[in-house]
Amino acid sequence: MAWQRVASFSEIDVDGVLGVDVNGSPVALYRLSNEVFATSGICTHALALLSEGFVEDGRIECPLHQGQFDVRSGKALCAPVTEDLRTYAVKLEGNDVFIDMERPAASAPAVANAAPNRKAGDGVRVAEEGDQGGSGKIAAMNVDSELSLTKRYVWPAEGLTRIPDWVYTDQTIYEREIERIFHGRTWNYVALECEVPKVGDFIRSNVGPTPVVVVRADDGSINVVENRCSHRAAEFCRELSGNVKEFVCPYHQWSYDLQGNLAGVPFRRGVNGKGGMPADFNNAQHGLRRLNVTTHRGVVFASYLDDMESFQDYLGPEVLNEFEATFDGRKPRLLGYYRHTLPGNWKLYHENLKDPYHATLLHTFLVTFGLLVAGNRSLMLADATGRHGVMASAKSERKSVSSDAKKEMRAYRDGMTLAEPRFMDFVEEFDSPWSVTMATIWPNLIIQREMNTLGLRQIIPTGPHEFIMKWTMFGFEGDDEEMTRHRLRQGNLMGPAGFLGLEDNEAIKFVQDGMQHVPGGQHLVKLDPAVAAGTSDSLISEASIRAMYRHWRAEMGL
Ligand code: FES
Ligand SMILES: [Fe+2]
Repeated sequence: MAWQRVASFSEIDVDGVLGVDVNGSPVALYRLSNEVFATSGICTHALALLSEGFVEDGRIECPLHQGQFDVRSGKALCAPVTEDLRTYAVKLEGNDVFIDMERPAASAPAVANAAPNRKAGDGVRVAEEGDQGGSGKIAAMNVDSELSLTKRYVWPAEGLTRIPDWVYTDQTIYEREIERIFHGRTWNYVALECEVPKVGDFIRSNVGPTPVVVVRADDGSINVVENRCSHRAAEFCRELSGNVKEFVCPYHQWSYDLQGNLAGVPFRRGVNGKGGMPADFNNAQHGLRRLNVTTHRGVVFASYLDDMESFQDYLGPEVLNEFEATFDGRKPRLLGYYRHTLPGNWKLYHENLKDPYHATLLHTFLVTFGLLVAGNRSLMLADATGRHGVMASAKSERKSVSSDAKKEMRAYRDGMTLAEPRFMDFVEEFDSPWSVTMATIWPNLIIQREMNTLGLRQIIPTGPHEFIMKWTMFGFEGDDEEMTRHRLRQGNLMGPAGFLGLEDNEAIKFVQDGMQHVPGGQHLVKLDPAVAAGTSDSLISEASIRAMYRHWRAEMGL
């Protein structure tokens, strides 16, 4: 038994971490309300001081690579850390904190007597003269505060009703999104099965910004591989779509089969006994990077993680229900594409479709022709996690726009008519109370069911300030010629220059422009305070946007 006094209780911030040196060993002390815990002070992954890290929900996040450990048990919780932290027994006597380096944390943590809550200094404690236990100053290791993301990017104290501009404008945040969201625990839309019907059919796609190829292999399976040669990282697949027997990289002609296995390396053994690859070079270890793939009702999704939950569980029951109302069992049939670049952050598109408030105010067409009117039956659904959503509404006839509603909606135009009246026909074909649904499937898909015009919008971010929007418009096998014409005609509602799409595209640019030049800026998402974050039956609500950011913050650890 070797209890050593290592700190004063009041030196440790609530939900904070204090670094101390005990006999030459860095130790991290944490205070969770009135309890104190102690672990080794150095991350098990790389040489980083945990006292420079960030404590949240009983976890300490390493400042260097954002691995996390449970403060109580020392357990490693997420990549890149794999090895648990050592823990030490703690006891409190009055304002004194003692630890025993030879014993792991006791099952019952030390709880303080009512102690003053004084703020600690700079996180790394410099021992006072006369301390017991030979404490000393910790050498400066990784103390560059630039490394501590969680300290640099601090969410406004008001919580989810304010969003800081750096969420949309910062390169570091964007890179973390690729790692934690698009390459993290998500199912990303990549294609429709009907785009690769036959063996050897392929189509290029993206997971986040990362280029991938979706290909139907000899056994009928759909494979998704990175479009990145194992040799020098060349984007080997240059055509948008086509049919191949194998993929051959144009640079040095390495070839890959339809499953992504490396099949051939020219001059692998060199020429005349000279050059070539090392003798132990093994093709099997140099295939293309393959992603986990799932399909549901003809729609293909990919994930960088192999242990993903099923797609159905990923959507949750309510959003799955809406997904299956659109993909109702009929086989999708491709009608065509739009593709355009939008000068804004990719999340603004999700927000636009979780923001029914704008719809009746921005969209003249929508209101004038009765597609969405304040007071129509509508729903802004968020799934339990907050990441997915469905904006749904039932079409009204124009005469139902009340004069009160008209006053609020500058967009309303009395007396406008369409030269082509068939444009607004609604052929009832779905088992759903809604004539319009826009499902936002985290992180890269919007499923558009706007009466009879159906589309999948794929978000392909290219940086914090820009994304590509790829629209795949579809109908169903069994549609007759007239129905196909109708879907195509009604498709003019949406797309880069659609009667509705145009204004949203502009709005996203205006928002991004407004956020770029004000340091420390933040903005409001306060509508509908009755719903903190989640589903609302009011159109005048931002509760779904708040739900999305609750999820985003958890995924990003910010
Ligand atoms: S980069 Fe593809 S073969 Fe060399
Ligand atoms: Fe809109």
